[in-house]
Amino acid sequence: MKPRTRVVHPPEVRVPPDNRPLVAPVYQSVKFSFDDVGETRRLWAGQREGYYYSRVSNPTLRQLEETLCELQGRDACLVTGSGVAAIAVALLGLLRAGDHVVYFAELYGPTRALLAKLLGRYGVSGTMLSIDDLEGLERVLRSTPTRLVAFESPTNPVVKVADLGRITALARAHGALTLLDNTLAGLHNHGGYDVDEFVHSLTKFASGHGDVMGGAVIARRELVDGMREDAVNLGPTLDPHAAFLILRGLRTYFLRWDVQCANALRVAGFLASRPEVARVRYPGLPGDPGHALAASQMDAFGAVVAFDLAGGLESGTRFAEALELFSIAASLGSTESLVVPPAMQQPRGMSAEQAAWTGVGPGTVRLSVGIEDADDLVDDLRQALERCGA
Ligand SMILES: Cc1ncc(COP(=O)(O)O)c(C=O)c1O
Repeated sequence: MKPRTRVVHPPEVRVPPDNRPLVAPVYQSVKFSFDDVGETRRLWAGQREGYYYSRVSNPTLRQLEETLCELQGRDACLVTGSGVAAIAVALLGLLRAGDHVVYFAELYGPTRALLAKLLGRYGVSGTMLSIDDLEGLERVLRSTPTRLVAFESPTNPVVKVADLGRITALARAHGALTLLDNTLAGLHNHGGYDVDEFVHSLTKFASGHGDVMGGAVIARRELVDGMREDAVNLGPTLDPHAAFLILRGLRTYFLRWDVQCANALRVAGFLASRPEVARVRYPGLPGDPGHALAASQMDAFGAVVAFDLAGGLESGTRFAEALELFSIAASLGSTESLVVPPAMQQPRGMSAEQAAWTGVGPGTVRLSVGIEDADDLVDDLRQALERCGA
């Protein structure tokens, strides 16, 4: 079955007839019961299939996990209550006191905070580089024994494209694992690369409607099995109804992805033609530094477009407030178009040199492009550019 068919016909998960949920499907049941105590004990001992408590497992969560495995091309998945929870579980599962991690200034802020602050408290050290600096990556991997390289592609908010082939090969050559936050690339891209663990915010493209949060770690089985027990004890559980909503969202995932990518390309082309705009970052534009890489790594270029307004921070605020269809809001990948103005995304907690690596400048605006009519989106952007005084 092809991926587009699979998301409309997700794998069937059968609950054994003697193992009934106390609340009917959606398996919105915390508890699952056997009449026979011995069967419960056999389940705990891993001697039979079934469900006992939804923090450990639940058929609706299992169906979502199996669908995501197929999309990303790996054999195991653990879903969590948010994308950040998936990143935290993945990092806690992979890292031990004394381990060294290479990560990047372009990473999502909470991922950097987890690595630099929280895990630092438990004896994990890190080196932060720019995702553009592969020579630096090689130098650090050669000089410092490293457990993990944690990266994103495309990055958020400036949509840089990481060289997956080179990064995974360098990590492998130096005995490091790789963790890729694949949220901006969607669930169906990058599976062919030698990435050890994928993490996703399902809050974005998977659910697609901005009404539910979730996350996933997708990897080979032994890695996921290792962190499942931690997850049971930590409790970052996804609610079954949230899983049901994400499964429902996935049915239209490819339709939304295709339209959002096409709309983003149109929007990026329009912005590039405007005098108020100093620079557009969208890998779909032939002149973008990430274009060739993205064209070889992804099936399309994503729904996030970043650009620099010549007028800087204040025109960025006026621009965002003048938009009528794009809402000023966090998140990305949903049906509706969103804007994050420069005042809401200036790099924090970094040196000036590191902040420069992020590519976020005083006039950087991030758009997440939705499924609205592209003409309406372009008209809205045009009127806001005319009014922003850039
Ligand atoms: C790249 C990336 N990873 C992870 C997350 C976190 O996801 P969540 O908000 O579902 O915790 C986000 C949220 O914006 C993101 O953009």
